[in-house]
Amino acid sequence: MKIKTKASLLSFIWLTSILISLTFIIYYIYAQYEKEEELETLQFTANQMLTHISPLELLQEDNNRILRKYLPNHAMIRSLDLSSKVINQAANTSELAVIPPKHIDTQESYSQKLNDQSVMIVRSPIHQGTEIIGTLEIITEPIELDQSLYRLVGIIGIVTLAAMLLSLSASFLLSKLLFLPLSRMILTMKEIETSLAIKKLPLNRKSKDELYQLSETFNHLMERIEMSMKKQRQFISDASHEFKTSLTIIEGYTSLIRRWGFENMDLHMEALDAVHDESKRMKHITYQLLELAELEHEPTLTFSSFDLVTLCKENIQLLRPLSNKEFILLPSESSMMIEADRLQIKQVILIILDNAMKYMTHHTHVYLSKTDPNYCIRIVDDGKGIPTEELPFVFERFYRVDRSRSRQTGGSGLGLAIAERIVKLHKGTIQISSVPHYGTEVIVTIPICKTTNSI
Ligand SMILES: Nc1ncnc2c1ncn2[C@@H]1O[C@H](COP(=O)(O)OP(=O)(O)OP(=O)(O)O)[C@@H](O)[C@H]1O
Ligand SMILES: [Mg+2]
Repeated sequence: MKIKTKASLLSFIWLTSILISLTFIIYYIYAQYEKEEELETLQFTANQMLTHISPLELLQEDNNRILRKYLPNHAMIRSLDLSSKVINQAANTSELAVIPPKHIDTQESYSQKLNDQSVMIVRSPIHQGTEIIGTLEIITEPIELDQSLYRLVGIIGIVTLAAMLLSLSASFLLSKLLFLPLSRMILTMKEIETSLAIKKLPLNRKSKDELYQLSETFNHLMERIEMSMKKQRQFISDASHEFKTSLTIIEGYTSLIRRWGFENMDLHMEALDAVHDESKRMKHITYQLLELAELEHEPTLTFSSFDLVTLCKENIQLLRPLSNKEFILLPSESSMMIEADRLQIKQVILIILDNAMKYMTHHTHVYLSKTDPNYCIRIVDDGKGIPTEELPFVFERFYRVDRSRSRQTGGSGLGLAIAERIVKLHKGTIQISSVPHYGTEVIVTIPICKTTNSI
């Protein structure tokens, strides 16, 4: 059963049970009140009779006429002597005669059932001075009261039925209104499931209730999925473009060799060089992609204590044979012990130094300092710089400022993305600033206190 139907049925049952119990209570209280009033009226009649008619007249035989004056509708009045013998009797219905006459010493009034019909009985003692000499009995069939109670039952029944119908339709309408956004959400989700296309829910509700928040959260989720899908598509297209370019070059040169290579040694060598370069490039990109994937999905850092100055010296040493340009290391202290993942930090510094080496003119300065709460690595080169409008994108994967030049320099645009990821895993920061034609500055900060390796 749908939750909508369940909710409406539940609220209907709840409302109906309240309504029916209320109806019964109202009916019972009203009937009791009316019966009491009827008995009081009879009692009043009995008192009137005892005041206006003398006791002797009441108990004088064949004096029925005197009782008839006070006789209500569907009633019987009797005067009895001390032995409960009927002396006088006046009645406009014969059914009540079956009720046995009864002498009493104190006044009584009650109702009882007679052939499934309620009858009301009032008995009052007849006093002669202080002495009781007989009983006055008034018995009625409260037909008007019964009729009015029947009418009340009819009215209450119709009203209850109407209220039940109204509550049923109202609870169905209410739950439909309440669950409409949910039904829409389910429909949208089903559409997404079948078409695999991102869809959003309409947010035109005025009240910012839980369902609105649910729809809003759902839309945010959809936006994020859409963004991540876009990024993924972009990444796949960029990665395949990188490989496609290299593969096209390799294919071009190999087909050239197949046609002319064995006759022309120079062409043969050129093709071999090109194929070698492109294979190296593809290997480099593949390694970088694997590294990124690993950093993205299984970010495990192995923390150890090491000297940052020594690490930078090692890195510079590694690059020196590859370039005739100058790297100047300027640490604020001769030794700076840091607690981090040594290999990963080495990788970050290498990525930045590699960039500096590719683009610098004469020299690159590497400043190391320790300002609580961070270690700061500042790498400043005097290269051609990066245009200001390109700066926000350099950390994106496959982003290269000058695509044609980058092919010559061998860049794939993944270095800074990897560096940023590693720094973030260390809960540090990486910033790049540049003045075109003057140089570029990259600042990396790593917290002094060891941080957890998850982000
Ligand atoms: N010091 C720098 N001077 C000038 N441009 C820079 C510098 N550092 C980075 N860039 C620009 O930012 C781009 C992105 O750098 P990144 O290191 O991510 O990629 P890459 O160097 O091209 O390739 P690789 O993945 O091999 O590092 C570079 O292509 C380059 O255009
Ligand atoms: Mg690089």
